[in-house]
Amino acid sequence: MYNETVMDHFMNPRNVGEMKDPDGVGEVGNPTCGDIMKIFLRIRDDRIEDVKFMTFGCGAAIASSSMATELIRGKTLDEAWEITNRAVAEALQGLPPQKLHCSVLAEEGIHAAINDYRKKHGLEPRPETGHAAHEEAGGDAE
Ligand code: FES
Repeated sequence: MYNETVMDHFMNPRNVGEMKDPDGVGEVGNPTCGDIMKIFLRIRDDRIEDVKFMTFGCGAAIASSSMATELIRGKTLDEAWEITNRAVAEALQGLPPQKLHCSVLAEEGIHAAINDYRKKHGLEPRPETGHAAHEEAGGDAE
């Protein structure tokens, strides 16, 4: 069911683990299946210097989390915010349509961690753009 890239990130996930004293933490759950992702960010000068994640979830969720951490490392917070679950799925060379919703966890986790950082620095949390909800509900609608 999964392609080689997804299997690689599922079997050898990058950046797994907990981070000591992170600058931002996001924890999100998929209400449909109950799977959970936690993401930790180290931020320097508005840029993601380091990132770690822990995901209790299906293969697609683990592969998506792993790929998402690779995509956001070194990015500015604005750039990282713009990474959609579809971009994560594309970087994985595609997910089966019925597993596309699992990649939403990665997008939402990144957003939650960035907003945690913003709140800790007295900034308003950024509103969700609706990407995740759209992708989850719409699947291949774009
Ligand atoms: Fe729960 Fe994939 S089935 S995230």
